[in-house]
Amino acid sequence: MSEQTNQPENAAAFSLGEDAHRKEELGSCMLCGRRGWLAAWVGWAAAFAAYLTPILAALRAFLAPGAKGSAQAGDFRRVATLDMVPENGTPITVPILAERVDAWNRYPSQPIGGIFLRRTEEGKLLALNVRCPHLGCTVIYDSAKRELLCPCHNARFNLDGERLEVNSQSPRDLDPLEVEVRNGGEIWIRFQHFRLGVAERVPE
Ligand code: FES
Repeated sequence: MSEQTNQPENAAAFSLGEDAHRKEELGSCMLCGRRGWLAAWVGWAAAFAAYLTPILAALRAFLAPGAKGSAQAGDFRRVATLDMVPENGTPITVPILAERVDAWNRYPSQPIGGIFLRRTEEGKLLALNVRCPHLGCTVIYDSAKRELLCPCHNARFNLDGERLEVNSQSPRDLDPLEVEVRNGGEIWIRFQHFRLGVAERVPE
């Protein structure tokens, strides 16, 4: 009788002792149990990502050295035809589109800038980059004043791109671009950006 009642008590005591021992073991083992494994995996993943990021960046630069978020500039491109440019000297604004390429994709017809295109008093074609030389805002045509105006800091230019204020925020006049007429009426320009914030005209 006593054996029948004692045996389960002893078994329970043994079982409790074993559990406590196991818990002690688990507590000292970082990788034991689901939480331990999860913490370990998160740590390994973070370390792997930190290690891999600069390698991927270098690989990307190697595969697409020209991919900087903007298309290549500096080539002649057809932008308009002669009949699109008013005879009275009023400028038209023409967006410049180009294919943009990064390491993985090609994006056709992405905007990379714009130009003012007009006929001068001498009847020549004049192309100006619409990007303000100060900080790069887009200059607009103020038709009421027949001026070119930068809305960011109010730099003003005449229709030839020359600064109108002595203390203009812009360090230089608007940037003129090379123009050619080809094939009897196509207007081609060499589109280019120049360094911002400096008086000299330095191609980017
Ligand atoms: S960005 Fe044009 S005046 Fe400042």
